[in-house]
Amino acid sequence: MISQNQKLGQPQNLPSIGLRPGLEGVPVTQSAICDIDGTKGELRYRGYPIAELAAQSSFLETTYLLIWGDLPNPQELRDFEKEVQMHRRVSFRVRDMMKCFPATGHPMDALQSSAASLGLFYSRRAIDNPKYVYDAVIRLIAKIPTMVAAFQLIRKGQDPIQPRDDLAYSANFLYMLTEREPDPLSARIFDRCLILHAEHSLNASTFSARVTASTLTDPYAVIASAVGTLAGPLHGGANEDVIKMLEEIGSPENAKSYLDNAILTKKKIMGFGHREYRVKDPRATILQGLAEELFARFGKDKMYDVAKALEQEAESRLGKKGIYPNVDFYSGLVYRKLGIPRDLYTPVFAISRVAGWLAHWREQLGANRIFRPSQIYTGEKSRKWKQADERSSTKSN
Ligand code: CMC
Repeated sequence: MISQNQKLGQPQNLPSIGLRPGLEGVPVTQSAICDIDGTKGELRYRGYPIAELAAQSSFLETTYLLIWGDLPNPQELRDFEKEVQMHRRVSFRVRDMMKCFPATGHPMDALQSSAASLGLFYSRRAIDNPKYVYDAVIRLIAKIPTMVAAFQLIRKGQDPIQPRDDLAYSANFLYMLTEREPDPLSARIFDRCLILHAEHSLNASTFSARVTASTLTDPYAVIASAVGTLAGPLHGGANEDVIKMLEEIGSPENAKSYLDNAILTKKKIMGFGHREYRVKDPRATILQGLAEELFARFGKDKMYDVAKALEQEAESRLGKKGIYPNVDFYSGLVYRKLGIPRDLYTPVFAISRVAGWLAHWREQLGANRIFRPSQIYTGEKSRKWKQADERSSTKSN
């Protein structure tokens, strides 16, 4: 599977390129998984438009598409769903380990640790064995939601509840989290949210996954590394911060002064801006629609009016710089209506993005070369050694 002859780069006589902070515009791999047109606001997974997948597909079907490259036929989908369902449970040892985590810790840290711990149980570093790869995919897709729900109950002082075999993937997660079987509309909307977050080309966490994968380490380390990267507020952590920001703004009338002040003090508006898009993120548009569907059935969240007022105010002020709502702007409002606690929004993002990370893991292994970029050294060229008692204070450094 891993062919050293299929290397992507040319090691010799590389033209020197200048420093590009954040690697903006620098291709570092080839990929057939996800395509973004940031000017038109288009996103496709394996060639299928995101709106069509979100309307027609299920999260597990989309996961299959992303990881194996094509949509499954009905039998392949049934087999995949069954395999995932059979591996949802996590060992009592993992649950006991999670009981030792501080209840005040962030669920993303709990998830990163528990995802890494799976490697203790299943890692055989047999990544050139297709069965090992398939089993790792199934286990990670199946167990990550169980671990997110388990930490939620454990930190409330309860025992995690077991997955229910009669419930589909998304309904089962909401059941394990809230201890209530969700109504069909909520389960379907949650499933659509997972489809929308499943993949997004070479974002920071996916790049992190590919860098980790490129060392040929095990897939649990790949996913743990990506979870840690997703957690930051400039990436997946923004969905949590959006709701904090909307609550701080408080009412639609305050949106303008909040924005004025943010622009004046050069503070970022959370849930706005994207390296790839110069228009509104197509996922934000779909998520806004999903929020409205939930509000129509279960009552409106008053923060929705604040969000709309902020978006309207920002259009004339930030739109000219190509800064519009991204995927994180409306997702929190959907999750809030589904009864998901705020600090679980990013772990929910991770549940979904595992699909994309695994797709990139497989793709990376198919044409691997270890990532090892260069740097421009800015430190001292050469220094003379001094004995300890000859050194002056270094405190100013
Ligand atoms: N609010 C106000 N100004 C912004 C924003 C924002 N959210 N985002 C970018 N800008 C401005 C920024 O101040 C800079 O202006 P100037 O050129 O005058 O200094 C310019 O736009 C370029 O910004 P940048 O930070 O260099 O852009 P980037 O491509 O490096 O960063 C980003 C992209 C998503 C990190 C950034 O837009 C941001 O910090 N957004 C807020 C956090 C957020 O919502 N993150 C979720 C990203 S989407 C989902 C995901 O990846 O998880």
